[in-house]
Amino acid sequence: MKLKGKNIVLGVTGGIAAYKAAELLRLLMQEGADVHVVMTTSATRFITPLTFRVLSGHDVLTALYQEELQLGEADESGVEHIELIRNADLVVVAPATANTMAKAAWGLADDALSTVLLTAGPEVLWAPAMNHRMWKNAVTMDNVARLKRLGHQMVDPEEGWMACREHGKGRMADPIEILDRVVELIGQPQDLDGVQVLITAGRTEEDLDPVRFITNRSSGKMGVALAEEAQSRGAEVVLLAGAMDVPAPDGIDVHRVRSARDMSTAAKRLFPKCDVLVMAAAVGDYRSAKASTSKMKRTKDDLSIELKANPDILAGLAKSRKGSQLMVGFALETNRAVEAGREKLKKKNVDLIVVNNPKDKGAAIGGDTNVVTLVEAGRAARKLPVLPKRDVARRILDWVVTKRSKKRKSGKSSVRSKA
Ligand code: C5P
Repeated sequence: MKLKGKNIVLGVTGGIAAYKAAELLRLLMQEGADVHVVMTTSATRFITPLTFRVLSGHDVLTALYQEELQLGEADESGVEHIELIRNADLVVVAPATANTMAKAAWGLADDALSTVLLTAGPEVLWAPAMNHRMWKNAVTMDNVARLKRLGHQMVDPEEGWMACREHGKGRMADPIEILDRVVELIGQPQDLDGVQVLITAGRTEEDLDPVRFITNRSSGKMGVALAEEAQSRGAEVVLLAGAMDVPAPDGIDVHRVRSARDMSTAAKRLFPKCDVLVMAAAVGDYRSAKASTSKMKRTKDDLSIELKANPDILAGLAKSRKGSQLMVGFALETNRAVEAGREKLKKKNVDLIVVNNPKDKGAAIGGDTNVVTLVEAGRAARKLPVLPKRDVARRILDWVVTKRSKKRKSGKSSVRSKA
């Protein structure tokens, strides 16, 4: 899933290779990209917009104006070109005719695709396909050079037999090669490829009786953002989740639990197999000392409930950790947050504590953003700005990647020094 979370506009122009654009669309989507297709009128003579609509799951933009659509043709547009570009990470034009490249090189915008391209700026990858004489023509070569100078990217055409039964350079590059270039340009680095990452998320629930329980306001958003980010970087993610307000991401091995003790049991089982543990779950510190098996009756008197401390999961797991395993904990603190984080780092014997203070602006529990400080041994605490939770996740996992590589290097050098 090297393109997970990426938005791509696929421009299809009129050439015999237009059918290959359907294969390219499939490949881009397989890597997790969300793709919107824009077609020139001549492209629609080679392959129908319906094909791309069905494959991409989105309307296809074929015309700038509603009245340009043929009588009886479904309104494929529905999407606005500016809106498409606002969200796009890259525009890929495959196949690209000499005509559309010429228009883009000189700023002409007289149909849907050329207008999209003029709005796009330089984030464009071209996969030209044309007769070899057209490709070699000085005007085309000049336009290609001009587009490159403007910062556009090219996947050059290949040499071979052409549809016009001539031999030469002009066949569109293989869709796999185009995909590789897209990944190179906007793909997520796979710096956690094959790494086993266990993430806990959400809140635990401690029963008082069959209908009532103690819990907290954690939404699970931070843990889910971590799981999604780790997955997009190639990690094999296991999500151990309590109650959450958001769905667990697709394609991730999810284990659901309710109470802190359930989470503890599951974590003990899953921990030995993981390389990295990130405990983002808000685990209840206490449970009822004696949960009632039947619904507690209301009495006239006040009621006191005796609470018992839950096991500290993280601290417990740290006792059985192998040297290569990395452990990250979270700490929610409202007073002396960084000092409290440092104490937890030692007490729980983990590598990193991500401290957050819900009193900070942008750090409210259950919100979409967070303000965290990274606290690790032997280094000054680093406070990050208000960031969307996915970006906080990215920064935490960047730390994990750096730490793992440092550990590997120091492991190697210690082996060498012993030799
Ligand atoms: O001690 P405190 O609850 O602030 O520690 C927070 C960190 O410890 C979080 O990573 C949380 O998931 C974890 N935790 C735990 N077991 C508990 C309570 C918290 O592992 N019983």
